[in-house]
This record gives sequence, C-alpha cells and structure tokens, in this order.
Amino acid sequence: MLDSIRVRRHDPENMLDQLIGFPDQCAGAVKLVEGFQLDGYTELEIRNIVIAGMGGSGIGGDLVKAVVADNCPIPVAVHRDYSLPAFVGQGTLFIAVSFSGNTEETLMSVETAYERGAVLIAITGGGKLAEFAVQRGIPCLTIPARGQPRSALGYLYLPVLAILDRLGFAQGFDFRGDTQEAIHLLSRLVNGFHPDVEDNRPKQLARQMCGKLPIIYAPQSLRAVAIRWTAQINENAKSLAYHNLLPEMNHNEIEGWKFPSDLTRCCFVVMLCDDAAHNRTQRRMEITAQLIEKHTAGIAQVHSQGESLLARLLSLIAVGDWTSLYLAVSYAQDPTPVVRIQELKRRLQMG
Ligand code: F6R
Repeated sequence: MLDSIRVRRHDPENMLDQLIGFPDQCAGAVKLVEGFQLDGYTELEIRNIVIAGMGGSGIGGDLVKAVVADNCPIPVAVHRDYSLPAFVGQGTLFIAVSFSGNTEETLMSVETAYERGAVLIAITGGGKLAEFAVQRGIPCLTIPARGQPRSALGYLYLPVLAILDRLGFAQGFDFRGDTQEAIHLLSRLVNGFHPDVEDNRPKQLARQMCGKLPIIYAPQSLRAVAIRWTAQINENAKSLAYHNLLPEMNHNEIEGWKFPSDLTRCCFVVMLCDDAAHNRTQRRMEITAQLIEKHTAGIAQVHSQGESLLARLLSLIAVGDWTSLYLAVSYAQDPTPVVRIQELKRRLQMG
C-alpha cells in the first residue's frame, strides 16, 4: 500500500512535503517577482527571447514558451547548450535560469550572450551566475535555493512568465487570473494526491508503470509536460522513461511498435491529453492507441484539468510529479538524491 508510512520510510529528504508545498511555492514565486526591478527594460527594442537553463532549471523555459509563444510577436527559444546560435546578440532578451548558479552550460552561454550585447536577466539561487550578474549590473532575481532544482519549479518558471508579462511579451495570457486559477487547482489536486488518500490517479499510474518502461506520448502543445514527466520519472524514480510528440511520431515511431517484441510488451504508454490540442491531433492519439495497444503492456490516458492553458499544463505536471514519487517508493528508492548527476558534475570539474 502506498500510504504515508511507506512513503516517509523511503523519503528521508522529504520530497513528499515539496510536492505538498508546490501550490504555496507558486504563490511565493509570484510575490517574490513583484518587487523585481526592471528599470529601463520596457523601452528596449527586443527582437527575440532566449531562455537558457538545463534540467530542472530548463523545464521552466519550456513551460513559459508553451504559455506565451503562440501569441508572442517575436520568437521565443529555449536554449540548453554551451554555444549559442548566431541570431543571439543585440536585440535578444536573454534570461539565464540556474537553480545552483553553477551549471557550466548555462554559464558559458550567458557569458557569450553578454559579449554579444544581449539584454540579460538572471534567475538563480546564487553561485557563479549571481556573481556574474552582480559584477556586471545585470538584474538578478535571487530565489530560495533549498532542496533539489526540480522541486523549485514554481520559482524557476513563474518569475520568467511575470517578467515577459511585464515587458508586454505575454499577450493573451492573464498573469494574475491564470496563476490564481492554477494555484487553486493545484491545491485541490495536491489534497487528492496525498498518500493518506486510499487510492488516487498517481498511485494507480505508479502501480501500472512499476516494472515497465514508461513511454509518454503527448500533443506538440504539451511538449513541456512530456519533458517534465520523463525527467521526474528519471530523477525521482531512477527509472528510464521516454517521450515523443504527436503528430510527429505518427510519421516514424509508430512503425517501431513491433520489435524487440519482449521489450515493447514491457512498455507502459501514458497519453497526455488536452481538449484544446488540435482536433486532428486528438484523433491521431485515439487511432495511435488502437494501433499499438496489443504490443504494449498497457495504455493510460491522463487528461488536463482547468480552464487556462497554464492551469491545464500544471494539472498534468502535478499528476506526473506525484506519479514519479509513488513510482520511486514502489521501487524502494529515495526520490531526492541524484547521485549520478552530482558525480558527473564532480568529474567534469576535475577536467
Ligand atoms: C534537477 C536536477 C538537474 C539540475 C541541472 C541543472 O533536480 O538536479 O536537472 O536542474 O543539472 O542544474 P541547475 O538547476 O542548478 O542549473
């Protein structure tokens, strides 16, 4: 039984409380960014926006892009690498996001963006990114750096959204109304997902996934959510997981659902659904499920809840985050530590 006693036994660093506190964290992030000064930034001529960050800090950029890009008059890109594309330069609003402030890909890209004359903003818990920003007079929002980066999602995406809203790049998005709706919805969902609730969707999904390879399929509009599900299953449950998007996977991956047959039968598919996705994509998801089901270990659909796009994205993220916690517990894994990520960073530091 995935009850509180069992969860707490495998969760000494308290990922459970991080998940319970997520709606409050979002409210705290909205408050924190209210006092953030961006003097003179509204008068600048911005031609494109780049949000740079890796892993738990990078997903914030994907979420922001999902909310603003369709109505934004200029291109919005999420960047996850050392070097920058040639278009980044004067006229680029470059927002560097790093929880630790010490992620080398993000640091290198922000240095290049600075050298090329981009307009910079930093969002970080401290480290070298904070130092870099302070030394050069770059606006830097300092977020509370407790726990794991992936548990600080509220601090890593809401401030970026608020900044873009303030600078006029989040058209068609009601920052106050949509964040309030999302926070209320998250509070309700979190109550229902608690381990003291005898059964709930994340527990069911974790049971279905346990011992299987989770494959996440989603419409293109839910790309950020699919990335988050995959990363949370990887980092919390220490399980492999993969995602792909529709319609693209209908043009290639769908044919792969045959071999190795022992492997396909060990794959559990989660289809992330949203009523606002293109109706042809929704139809494609139904047909895809019919065509591949007999080769899988099972297929589950998870539907978004809420009105605004932000609330719908976060409702799906909440299901995924809690599923990854219960999957970790099912595998008797402590969800918090990321030993290999840390060891890899340690070895990179040595040269
Ligand atoms: C998530 C996690 C990683 C980091 C990534 C970047 O919990 O540990 O995905 O987010 O390695 O590090 P930061 O976020 O410090 O820039």
